[in-house]
Amino acid sequence: RAPGRLKKTIVMVGMMGAGKTAVGRALAQRLEVPFLDSDHEIEAAANLTIPEIFAREGEAFFRDKERQVIARLLKEERGVLSTGGGAFLADENRSIIAKHGVAVCLQADLEVLWKRVRHRDTRPLLRTDDPYATLKSLYEARVPIYSLADLSVVSDGLSSIEEMVERVLYALK
Ligand code: S3P
Repeated sequence: RAPGRLKKTIVMVGMMGAGKTAVGRALAQRLEVPFLDSDHEIEAAANLTIPEIFAREGEAFFRDKERQVIARLLKEERGVLSTGGGAFLADENRSIIAKHGVAVCLQADLEVLWKRVRHRDTRPLLRTDDPYATLKSLYEARVPIYSLADLSVVSDGLSSIEEMVERVLYALK
């Protein structure tokens, strides 16, 4: 496949801990297309980390930036775009993704997600008294919306990044 020749951007969506960034980056490498990451762009533009943005400016500010960044990246170039776990929930993001991209949902069980996120302190939404309960309620609320993605690929927690890339490529065929 010639580099940079995607018709649509491949947009990774799904819960925090599903592997959107790791799988997205490896997929972009494999396809020889640019890797784009909305959280990373938001951090670079603000010169702050995601937890700092949430703490200083609040979630609404973050969601606003997220919407702007996703729209810009989708219009600017074709590649693999990893989004933050909340991005696909907004109608506006889903419609711009539908216009310029193909949404690939990475699915994993709640327990798998919990194992991956529990030791990390990078997710402001999980800074609660009971982060497991918070993750669970986000999971239950969001799974029906993620199922609106064009396709879904399951990670059972043992699957390697390379295996996930293969599954995404297969699902995209
Ligand atoms: C969020 C997920 C995070 C980040 C922010 C909010 C969410 O991205 O965008 O902390 O609402 O689920 P990851 O899914 O990459 O952790």
